[in-house]
Amino acid sequence: MRHLKLNIDQEVERAIEGVDLAETGCSYRDQNEFVVLEHFLTQPLVDQFLLEVDRLTPDVNRNYVPGHKKGGSVSFYSILSQASALLSFYRSPALLTFLSRLVEAPLLLCPENDPHSCALYYYQQPGDHIGFHYDTSYYKGKRYTVLIGLVERSEHCRLVARVQKHGETDEIRETRIPMDPGTLVLFNGDKLWHAVTPLGKDEERIILTLQYVTNQEMGPFKKMFSNLKDAVAYFGPAALLPWNPSKEKG
Ligand SMILES: [Fe+2]
Repeated sequence: MRHLKLNIDQEVERAIEGVDLAETGCSYRDQNEFVVLEHFLTQPLVDQFLLEVDRLTPDVNRNYVPGHKKGGSVSFYSILSQASALLSFYRSPALLTFLSRLVEAPLLLCPENDPHSCALYYYQQPGDHIGFHYDTSYYKGKRYTVLIGLVERSEHCRLVARVQKHGETDEIRETRIPMDPGTLVLFNGDKLWHAVTPLGKDEERIILTLQYVTNQEMGPFKKMFSNLKDAVAYFGPAALLPWNPSKEKG
């Protein structure tokens, strides 16, 4: 496949230039650490990522947790070896600085043995969905989730978020968010109760997910639980295997 050479850092900086940091930071805090940035990515970034999404599709692991979740996922290990643009985006210093300013905490990449650090979610079969949950941090610090729409060909499948007003635990509104290509959602994983509604027939939805933390350490029992959850609900038994650095192509 032809590989378009794109300066990822430069494109990230262009995307960030289009955002009013003060206003977005206010919304983030007002909504109890949750914000949506519609069409954040530039079109060249979306196009480049879609090339890599096509390349990674054979690596999709289908998963089914009765009563909670059905869908497909591609783990960080596949991205590490086959998707240099997605990897550069996840690691982009400009993106890390931008997100750190929004959440007002110095964010770090997840350790490289975390299959969830940068991954893809594929909703491709009717009924693919995930029930309400928090993106609980098993790390010793906070865990932040970034979701970015890449393919949105669905009228049924929506990210649904129960948004709390900062400091007012009783006031909750529910919002349904279309994840158009390039739209970014950022939230504190322990604070946003969220779900994805079931995909309809002949629909498709593909999401890039990035995880950042404030402390890269995780206790051994939490690590074991996190690994098992990822193996069962997301990436299959391969997620339990130790990461092999020789796989990385740069
Ligand atoms: Fe989630």
